[in-house]
Amino acid sequence: MPVINRIAEFHAEMTQWRHQIHAHPETAFEEHKTADLVAGLLESFGVSVDRGIAQTGVIGTLKGSLAGDRAIALRADMDGLHIEEQNDVPHASQNHGRMHACGHDGHTAMLLGAAKHLAETRNFAGTIHFIFQPAEENEGGARLMIEEGVLERYPVEAVYGMHNWPEVPVGQFAVRPGPMMAAFDIFEITISGRGAHAAMPHLAIDPIVAAAQLVSGLQTITSRNVHPLEGAVVSITQVHGGDTWNVIPDRVVLRGTTRSFNPAVRDQIEPAIRRIADGICRACGAQMALRYERRYPALINASTETEIAAATAASIVGESNVKRDLLPSMAAEDFACFLEQKPGAYIWIGNGTAEAGGILHNPHYDFNDEVLPLGASYWVRLAESVLAKERASASPT
Ligand code: NI
Repeated sequence: MPVINRIAEFHAEMTQWRHQIHAHPETAFEEHKTADLVAGLLESFGVSVDRGIAQTGVIGTLKGSLAGDRAIALRADMDGLHIEEQNDVPHASQNHGRMHACGHDGHTAMLLGAAKHLAETRNFAGTIHFIFQPAEENEGGARLMIEEGVLERYPVEAVYGMHNWPEVPVGQFAVRPGPMMAAFDIFEITISGRGAHAAMPHLAIDPIVAAAQLVSGLQTITSRNVHPLEGAVVSITQVHGGDTWNVIPDRVVLRGTTRSFNPAVRDQIEPAIRRIADGICRACGAQMALRYERRYPALINASTETEIAAATAASIVGESNVKRDLLPSMAAEDFACFLEQKPGAYIWIGNGTAEAGGILHNPHYDFNDEVLPLGASYWVRLAESVLAKERASASPT
């Protein structure tokens, strides 16, 4: 595979960074040691560094050998997950209950590798901002960075992101214009009834019976309310109620998540949950309270930048190894927040067909080190082609 030769030379070094990060996983807004490592390496490459952005975020800035007003951002995420690692490898997690089970260790190492090479060569015109983002998982580090004014402080014309993807073989990329990952919301429904002796149900208002109907009833949102050709998911993931054999409880709490691509569909789901939950609970004589929280928007790739990303990937692995028709994922990604503000593209890099447990967020997952030079080469070629010297000097900005 035509990865950049110089990057292939420091494959072992990138692997060492990746293993170091993997062994010391840190979760949302606690990425202090990871940020130390990232900032230290960037400085050693000659990249200027700002720290403490969105608490633990790091941004490196590098100017090309030719002046130019244009700038882009390349983004990697740094956080791990609350998972107990079950891999028996020398670089396994040393932080009890925390693990890099989504490959953000690899994303960080690949962007560091790219920064090292770009700082050595500076074969571009303009400015590259390397965004090392905290708290991608659940806590919205990207949104916090944007709220803190990152895009005003580091103005860019486009933002690019990358995630490893275990369903895609090593040596392949996948990208598509439009929706690529789903909007992610959470909800909690509290059903309040009246507790009683289990042998005297006529004296109770049974929240468990209401909850059972509600779990089924909510499935009619995707099957009966949402357009059949639109994607949407409503999943109940927690049911809490009752403590013993012979008591009908006062209360049941249901929690879950919804996914969608189209903003109009997203807007449809919350009122549908409210209508169904309220109707079923009333029919049972119970009351309900709904808390619905919007988390991440859908990740929408811009068409021009997606074409640039796909062409860049093809320059490394060949056109036939760039999949442009893979189905979008119902998983969510907070890089979507950057893409709400700026045009850009988010690409999947193959992590190898998932063997037993080799899937994202699994305790047996491990980022595939063979991918490191491919990802770093992608970042370098992408930056060099977007900020090409000829293009920058030919077009006034
Ligand atoms: Ni991830």
